[in-house]
Amino acid sequence: MSGYSWFSETNPLLSQEIRRRKYQSKQIVAAISCLVLIVTFTIVAVYFGTKTDKKVDPTPRPRPRLPGYDLQKDHADIISMFSGARKGNYKKIWTVLTKKPYLINVIPRDESYALLHYATRQNNSMAVHKLVNYNSCDVKVQSVPNAKNKHQGGKIPEQLALDKNIKKFLHNFTEKMMQERFGSKTVFYTTKAKGEKFNKYGPPLLLLALSTFKKTFLGKTKTSSKFQSLLNCTFQSASKNFKNISNLILVNLYDFDNGTADILNVTSKTDFFASIVKLYTSRTLYVNVNTALKRQALFDYKKYRPRGRALRFGPYALMLQAVLMYWTDLKPYDGVTYRGFQVNVTNQYHVKTKFVYLNFMVTTDNETRADEYAGAHGSILVISNTRHCHVQPRDITRYSYYPNDRQYLYPSGSEFVVTANDGRNVNLSCI
Ligand SMILES: *[C@@H]1O[C@H](CO)[C@@H](O)[C@H](O)[C@H]1NC(C)=O
Ligand SMILES: *[C@@H]1O[C@H](CO)[C@@H](O)[C@H](O)[C@H]1NC(C)=O
Ligand SMILES: *[C@@H]1O[C@H](CO)[C@@H](O)[C@H](O)[C@H]1NC(C)=O
Ligand SMILES: *[C@@H]1O[C@H](CO)[C@@H](O)[C@H](O)[C@H]1NC(C)=O
Ligand SMILES: *[C@@H]1O[C@H](CO)[C@@H](O)[C@H](O)[C@H]1NC(C)=O
Ligand SMILES: *[C@@H]1O[C@H](CO)[C@@H](O)[C@H](O)[C@H]1NC(C)=O
Ligand SMILES: *[C@@H]1O[C@H](CO)[C@@H](O)[C@H](O)[C@H]1NC(C)=O
Ligand SMILES: *[C@@H]1O[C@H](CO)[C@@H](O)[C@H](O)[C@H]1NC(C)=O
Ligand SMILES: *[C@@H]1O[C@H](CO)[C@@H](O)[C@H](O)[C@H]1NC(C)=O
Repeated sequence: MSGYSWFSETNPLLSQEIRRRKYQSKQIVAAISCLVLIVTFTIVAVYFGTKTDKKVDPTPRPRPRLPGYDLQKDHADIISMFSGARKGNYKKIWTVLTKKPYLINVIPRDESYALLHYATRQNNSMAVHKLVNYNSCDVKVQSVPNAKNKHQGGKIPEQLALDKNIKKFLHNFTEKMMQERFGSKTVFYTTKAKGEKFNKYGPPLLLLALSTFKKTFLGKTKTSSKFQSLLNCTFQSASKNFKNISNLILVNLYDFDNGTADILNVTSKTDFFASIVKLYTSRTLYVNVNTALKRQALFDYKKYRPRGRALRFGPYALMLQAVLMYWTDLKPYDGVTYRGFQVNVTNQYHVKTKFVYLNFMVTTDNETRADEYAGAHGSILVISNTRHCHVQPRDITRYSYYPNDRQYLYPSGSEFVVTANDGRNVNLSCI
C-alpha cells in the first residue's frame, strides 16, 4: 500500500507526531498484549487441560490459539471511537484501529456516518489521509439514514467533502482499487478446516454485527458466552423487541432492496420471524447477503476486514441465522434436496471433498424444478440429508415468497461431503 502513503511523505511534522504516538501506543499495546497472552494461555490451558484429562499426551504439540474475540471490548471500543469522532478527537481512534483495523468501517446505531465520513465533514485532512491509509478502510463506505434524517443514507465520504483538496484526494480512490484491496474473487465454498473454525467461534461478520449493535441484539446478556448461545439470545431478544431489530435491519438495508420496508412492516413477533424468512426468498437481497457471508473466507479469521457494504447485511444475516436455528416453527428436513445452477459448476466439486457453505442456500425437493432451472448447461446439487447433520435444512415452504415451491433453507455453516459428480449432478451428503 506504499502508493497511498501520500500523507506521511508530504508532512514530516505530522509523521513525526505519529511516530511519537506510535511509540507510546506500542508500549501500551505491548503491556496489554502480554496480559492478553497470559489470560489467553490460561484459558487455553484450562480448556485443553480439561479435555485431555483422560488421555495424557506425553509429547506436547503446538496448541491452537483462540481468536480471542472480545465482543464486549469491541463494543466499548466502537462507542469510544464514535464519541471521539463526534468531537473531532482522533487520538483514541488510532489506538483502537492499530489493534482492530476491522472496526474502521462500522456505523453504530443512531449514527449515519462511518469514521471516514466524520473526518471528511470536519475538513480534517490528517485524519482522512490516515484513515484511508488503513488497508481495511473502505473509501466508498456509504452512510445510512437515521431517525433524525431519513435522507442521509447512501452517501460516500467523497460526496460529503466540503474541502476541495479532500474531495480530490478521495476521488482518486476508485471502486476498482477497493475491489483489489478487499478481494472480489468468487467463492464457491469454504474449506472444512476454515469453515469449522468459523462455525465454532462464530462467523466474523455476525460477531461484528453483535458487537456493533450489542444493546439491540443482546440487551444486558453476558457476552462471554459461546456463539450459539449468543444466537439464541438474539432470538430471545427479537421475541421481546422485534420492532427495534426490524428497524435496525431496515436502516441497514437502505437502498439495497426497496421492498424490504413493506415486508418487514408487521405487528407480531411471529410475523416478524416469518418476514425475515420471506425476505430471503424475495427479490435480490439473498445475493448480497450471501456474497458478504462467502467473502469472509477470503481472509484468515484474525485478518477479517469487511467492506462497509458487507457490514450492512450483518444485522439481517444474524437475524436470519437466529430464526433458522431457534424458531421451532421451522422444521428440520431429512429428505433429498435439489439446487439448480444455471452455470456449470461441477469442476469445483471433487468427490470426497469436505467443505462448508458460509452462505445460506435455498433448495427444493422437486428434482424436475431444479433440472428446469439448470437448463441444458447448468449443474444440479443433489443433497442427501438422512444422516444427522450438523446443520439440517429448514422447511420454509409456508413462509416463502413463492409458496407453490416447497423450499428448504440451509443456515450458514452447513457442512457437506461430495459423494459423486457426473458433470451434471453433484451429489452431496450433509454431514
Ligand atoms: C470546511 O471547509 C469548508 C470550505 O472549505 C467550509 O465552508 C466549512 O465551514 C468547513 N467546515 C468545518 C467544520 O470546518
Ligand atoms: C490523484 O492521482 C493522480 C494520478 O495518480 C495524482 O497525480 C494526483 O496527485 C492525485 N491527487 C490527489 C489529491 O491525491
Ligand atoms: C435458548 O434460550 C432459552 C431462554 O434462555 C432457553 O429456554 C432454551 O432452552 C435455549 N434453546 C436452546 C436450543 O438452547
Ligand atoms: C429501541 O431503540 C431505540 C433507539 O436505538 C433505543 O433508544 C431504545 O432503548 C430501544 N428500546 C429497547 C426496548 O431496547
Ligand atoms: C429504490 O427506490 C429509489 C427511489 O425510490 C430508486 O432510486 C432506487 O434505484 C431503487 N433501488 C432499487 C434497488 O430498486
Ligand atoms: C405499515 O402498514 C400499515 C397498515 O398495515 C400502514 O398503515 C403503515 O403506513 C405501514 N408503515 C410503513 C412504514 O410502511
Ligand atoms: C415439480 O416441478 C414441475 C416443474 O416446475 C411441476 O410441473 C410439478 O408439478 C412439480 N411437482 C410437484 C410435486 O410439485
Ligand atoms: C461441465 O464441465 C465439465 C468439465 O469441467 C464437463 O465434463 C461437463 O460435461 C460439463 N457439463 C455440462 C452439463 O455441460
Ligand atoms: C446422484 O444424484 C443423481 C440424481 O438424483 C442420481 O440419479 C444418482 O444415482 C446419484 N448418485 C449417487 C452415487 O448417489
